Amino acid sequence: MKEKFMQHITSSEITSESIYTNRRIFLKALTATASLAGTATLSKENSIPDKNYSIPKFTRNKQYSLQESSNTYNDATTYNNFYEFGTDKSDPAAYSKGFKSKPWTVEISGEAEIRGKFTIEDILKPHPLEERIYRFRCVEAWSMVIPWMGFSLADLINRFRPTANAKYVVFTTLHDPIQMPGQREKILDWPYVEGLRIDEAMNPLTLMVVGLYGRWLPNQNGAPLRLIVPWKYGFKSIKSIVGIRFTEKQPRTSWNIAAPEEYGFYANVNPDVDHPRWSQAKERRIGGNYLSPRIQTLPYNGYATEVSALYRNMNLSRYF
Ligand code: MTE
Repeated sequence: MKEKFMQHITSSEITSESIYTNRRIFLKALTATASLAGTATLSKENSIPDKNYSIPKFTRNKQYSLQESSNTYNDATTYNNFYEFGTDKSDPAAYSKGFKSKPWTVEISGEAEIRGKFTIEDILKPHPLEERIYRFRCVEAWSMVIPWMGFSLADLINRFRPTANAKYVVFTTLHDPIQMPGQREKILDWPYVEGLRIDEAMNPLTLMVVGLYGRWLPNQNGAPLRLIVPWKYGFKSIKSIVGIRFTEKQPRTSWNIAAPEEYGFYANVNPDVDHPRWSQAKERRIGGNYLSPRIQTLPYNGYATEVSALYRNMNLSRYF
């Protein structure tokens, strides 16, 4: 049933014309490199789960969790957007199997007293992990409810002591076209870059994520470190982060560069501001069938109490 529904929504309905065309070019390139990807997947080193990555310990954060029932692990790990591995929803799971998320370093740079390269272990060590069940709303008008595991980005930021000039935080994904076949095509301006205003980054809802459903992040969901900003459209939630930079100026971000009239810097979930090619008033919860009624999209994805003050006095149609 689900498969039928996915066939029902064609890629051209949910991606822009140029991206659709790029996708076809990309698929060609992917076919050419399929044997390469296959080799990586089959290699012994990559096919067995990393033994050092034991089952993580975490506590449920009740204040920041929903009562709504979650999507399945299968939904969350097979219906993905991660264009570095392809533009179809099934591509990230299919083509990221050989991706090496260890060893991993994150470079902290810009307007902060403490800068430099840190291993993922350094990044994780002082932060107790918690689980939070968040709504996740993609700009394509579908949504899921997912138990993420991570820690507040604010706690991480505080460790690096941003200076008074740090007005924005900019995140960068790994750039590695050998491992990420999508980066061999000009689908986006690689590497993927996203940014938040510093007060958005410091909001306790903003989560540095390392796992889901009590397991470490699978590659297709952005291993080993990604962002989740639950009141914003999913494209802000950048995956496989290798850089965190504090800046004075608002950064240019990948989707905003690709289609500025469609993807604003703020990207706050807003049922009153339509995407130029479709309404944002409703959403389809993944996992239902195509007859399931669409649900009403909530302002700020249901997190208005926690975050609406961040945007007081702002014209949200202009700053979309
Ligand atoms: N991060 C990178 N590096 N590349 C991407 O293509 N896609 C974004 C976001 N982060 C993307 C990314 C989009 S559009 C969405 S909806 C979410 O990841 C999807 O996250 P999920 O696959 O874990 O649901």
